[in-house]
Amino acid sequence: MTDILLLNGPNLNLLGQREPEIYGDLALKDIENLCQQQVFAHNLSIGCFQSNSESELIDAIQQAKLDNVQLIVINPAAYTHTSVAMRDALLAVEIPFIEIHLSNPHSREPFRHHSYFSDIAIGTITGFGINSYRFAIEAAIQHLTTD
Ligand code: DQA
Repeated sequence: MTDILLLNGPNLNLLGQREPEIYGDLALKDIENLCQQQVFAHNLSIGCFQSNSESELIDAIQQAKLDNVQLIVINPAAYTHTSVAMRDALLAVEIPFIEIHLSNPHSREPFRHHSYFSDIAIGTITGFGINSYRFAIEAAIQHLTTD
């Protein structure tokens, strides 16, 4: 059983190289390792998956139900602003999730201001760079360990 699933969408495999002034210097692997350490310290388990493909992300969300995942932390990246299909997948599996972004999409181009996920998320954390991941994992741990 995996307690928490960390999902990352398109182009986040390029973290560390991609527009570092916006997204920072750390590679996704480094961020995933930090999240794993944070979760393991609370005797919980975490799985990590990144894809550039919308269909693979949908498959991962559907698989999470079969794997009895308790909570999803997701940075849908550009699919935030386009993907009705990923929204529907999250609604279908009924797994609570936290939406995260490294940048603050609301302070950027208008097309980034709308999210297909925010209104159905437990909450959203945006704009804190890699700390968005740290804060989201902390919130996930609290959600799973408090009555
Ligand atoms: C992002 C914000 C999105 O608008 C963008 O398409 C991304 C990354 C973020 O983490 O800040 O790829 O989700």
